Parts: sequence; structure tokens; C-alpha cells
Amino acid sequence: MDRGFLLGDAVYEVIPFYHGVGFRLPQHLTRLQRSLDAVGIELDPSIDLGAVFEQLVARNPGRHQAIYLQISRGVAPQRKLRYPAELRPTVFAYSYPIQLALEGPLDQVQGIRAVTVEDQRWLRCDIKATGLLANILAIQQADAHGADEPLLVSEGRVTEGTSCNLFLVEDGAIVTPQLEPHILGGTTRGLILELAQQAGLPVKQEQVAQSRLVHADELWISSSTRGVLPVIQVNGQPVGKGVPGPLWFKVAALYQQYEQQLLG
Ligand code: PDD
Repeated sequence: MDRGFLLGDAVYEVIPFYHGVGFRLPQHLTRLQRSLDAVGIELDPSIDLGAVFEQLVARNPGRHQAIYLQISRGVAPQRKLRYPAELRPTVFAYSYPIQLALEGPLDQVQGIRAVTVEDQRWLRCDIKATGLLANILAIQQADAHGADEPLLVSEGRVTEGTSCNLFLVEDGAIVTPQLEPHILGGTTRGLILELAQQAGLPVKQEQVAQSRLVHADELWISSSTRGVLPVIQVNGQPVGKGVPGPLWFKVAALYQQYEQQLLG
């Protein structure tokens, strides 16, 4: 009778741990708290998520892993939308092996093919909630077109992917759709903006009309487990020259450097 299972009344995070070290862990925990606050789930302060992560990492030896963490509103006696006071949230976590994002030489990274798909998700995609049916349908559409990734379009503007954020390069400037309720504030998006700014690269956050995709010099997607990847095709058309672009190489190298610093 868990409300996460019955009603999708739950929020989640996916956090990479490289050699046992959480990647952007504070940012993931801040976003988790924001999601919990937004849906009014109160986690018992005695629950030490850090200790849960430590145990999971220790019990799953190996190089790199991701921890999936889901917190639901808890088990209620009846399946009703209205929930009783004082439910005890269910904390569920598991670990699975992953590779270091962008491991290896960048010139061997495969670019991905995207298609645009109507964004049919709800109006609070800034909350990392577990109800992902619209995302699943969008992935099915991408598969049907032989593409790797759907890019979601809402009222003529492109928002993000089904589990990643989006970047464009236009005339040497890095552009990403500005944060709004249709977009999840990605931890990797934040890192890329930080790295680009530190390197003095021009960055802009603004609404992006779908029509700009075909004219962009480069497109990238970003997420915790994938890092930043070049998109080389949209709706069957090449992006720029149809190969990973020079600014992607620059930013991906900065990303790799940042990972190496963390790994020591
Ligand atoms: N997804 N946008 C959406 C809709 C996402 O689900 C995700 C992450 C992101 C990127 O966020 P971050 O950079 O913090 O990973 C953007 C995770 C990886 C998932 O669902 O598996």
C-alpha cells in the first residue's frame, strides 16, 4: 500500500559515486530537499541519508556506481488521494554499476541522434517526481524514429530531454533553456554553466524556440550519468557539420578535468 507504488506519490534522485565519492552530492541533496518541500513530504530528521549511501557503497564494491534514491509519502491504509497526517515516508535506495561519465578519449565519444517530441508532461517538471509515463511515451516515440533521445517541445519552445538538459551553441555562445517549471534544474547543467563561466566562455540562459535547433552550430545534452554529450542529428538533419563541435570538446575536457580533480 505504498503511495509511491499506487499513486506515484514520490520523488527521487540519481547520484553517481565514483570510487565511492559522491559526484555533486550537495547539489543532489539540495534538489532532493527542494522536491520534498514542493510536495510536502517531511523526512524524519533522524534519517541519515549520508549513512545510507555509505553503506550501499561499501556493500557494493566496484569502481563506479549510481545510487537511485526514492522517497515516497509512505504506506497508507487506503488508496485515496487525500493522505492521512503523520505518514512515515518510505526511503528506498539501490546501487548499480556505471562508468565514469566521459571516460576515455573525447574523440571516441559517439554523438547522439535526437528527435523533437511534444512535451506531454505535467506542469511541475522542476520537481524530480517518479511519475514518468509521459517521459516513457516520449522515449517510445524516439525509438520509433530510430533516435537515441527525444527533445521535448512545449508551446513552440524546447525544454529538455526526458532525463537530461539541453545546450545549444550559437555564434560561439553557449545557450541553455532558462529554468522554469517545465525544466528540471540539472546538477550537471549547473556544473557546465560553472565550468564555462570559469573558462570565460559566453553563456546565456533564455527561452529557446524550437526553430533555433536546426540553425544551432552545436547541441549537447547533460545528465549525471552521461556527463555532457554531443547531439549530431536532430529530426534526421545534421547539427552543424554533423560531428561533435569544437566547443563541446572544450567543455567536455573541462568536465573530465573536474572529474579527475574529484578522483584525486
Ligand atoms: N535524470 N532533466 C530531467 C527530466 C531529468 O530526469 C534529469 C536527470 C536531468 C538532468 O539532471 P542531472 O544533471 O542532475 O542528472 C534533466 C536522471 C539522471 C534520471 O532520471 O535517471
